[in-house]
Amino acid sequence: MIPVSAVANSIESSLIRSIFNLAKQLDDVVDFTLGDPDVQPHLAIKNAACESIQQGKTRYSQNAGLLELRQTISQYYKRKEGFDYDPVTEIMVSVGAMEGLYLAFLAMLNLDDEVIIPAPYYVNYVQMVQLCHAKPIIVDNPGKEELSFSVEDIEKAITSKTKAIIINTPSNPSGKIIPQEKIKALADIAKKYDLTVIADEVYKCLIYDGTEFKSIVAIEGMRERTVLINSLSKEFCMTGYRIGYVLAPSELIAAMTKLQENVAACAPLPSQYAAIEALSGKEDYSKNMVEIFTKRRNVLYEGLKDLPLIKAHQPEATFYMMVDISETGMTSLEFAHAILEKAHVAVVPGIAYGKSCDKYVRIAFTLEEDRIKEGINRISHFINSIAK
Ligand SMILES: Cc1ncc(COP(=O)(O)O)c(C=O)c1O
Repeated sequence: MIPVSAVANSIESSLIRSIFNLAKQLDDVVDFTLGDPDVQPHLAIKNAACESIQQGKTRYSQNAGLLELRQTISQYYKRKEGFDYDPVTEIMVSVGAMEGLYLAFLAMLNLDDEVIIPAPYYVNYVQMVQLCHAKPIIVDNPGKEELSFSVEDIEKAITSKTKAIIINTPSNPSGKIIPQEKIKALADIAKKYDLTVIADEVYKCLIYDGTEFKSIVAIEGMRERTVLINSLSKEFCMTGYRIGYVLAPSELIAAMTKLQENVAACAPLPSQYAAIEALSGKEDYSKNMVEIFTKRRNVLYEGLKDLPLIKAHQPEATFYMMVDISETGMTSLEFAHAILEKAHVAVVPGIAYGKSCDKYVRIAFTLEEDRIKEGINRISHFINSIAK
């Protein structure tokens, strides 16, 4: 028998995947679990990947990614946000945002360092910090701000070991955008205690109703202490291409690039060429995303809002809707199992995102409208059957 390490043993497999796997064992499930859009990337993006293969551009790239892609990312940020990042020293391409996050933690954290993770949070942050032999400090605030956290609670959680705070805005799973006053207060705390901010902005491409979003990097004094994480997965529906990127001060990018040599060598080349096309600005290849998902969000919300015992929260961004199920008297895990078994609908139990989320389930509307409508019918039937 091969002994497994303590760190590997400490990692729990995610509830999202366990519900997803259970759903796979049943017939005809409406699966609302994964944040993996069913929409295809634009044909020009696919063609760029295929051409790279046909032309034999399929070898390794530099560990930090093709310079041409880093230049494209730099220009893209300049165009969209007005930020200036040097493609040679301040940008690296990763295997999805996930590897960017992991390499950033690996490059920053020493044994027992603490990383503050406000709930509700993206599940993998906790495990990635643990993989780096550091400590995730979850700031949860049951009963206070709904689906959010308080800055005072964050400040109270800071100790001499705190290295970084993670902010994810727009947020998976809450679908909320952290308001600007809160972002400013977080920036003040980061400066006061000399902390790094990891800003995961993979959903800034999917904001509804023209709601304003500004990155923490735009605040004076934050560029030098922020690790900006982004990805093409959601913006261009390229989840399986596995392309993410990190914008950060040069010393961190240099360390991450060294680590990349030992982890993945580089992101896949055909995907890097596809990313150059996607971000080129020749055409707005992601513009119909907001349109498609606004429609789906509205269909889902309209279908759920008048049902008894549950309360759907209309998201400001992302393709996730949190639904309060507390009046059913079930925990989120009980609800997720019951609705899967009785109605063949798969949702994620909120407990996966922090204790205060146990009264919610998350519904990812990454399915076609007809399938969403079928899901609503089944949810309605299930809820009405327990409401009697
Ligand atoms: C908040 C957040 N960050 C990062 C990721 C990972 O994205 P990628 O596919 O680029 O690794 C996800 C994916 O669902 C996410 O929700």
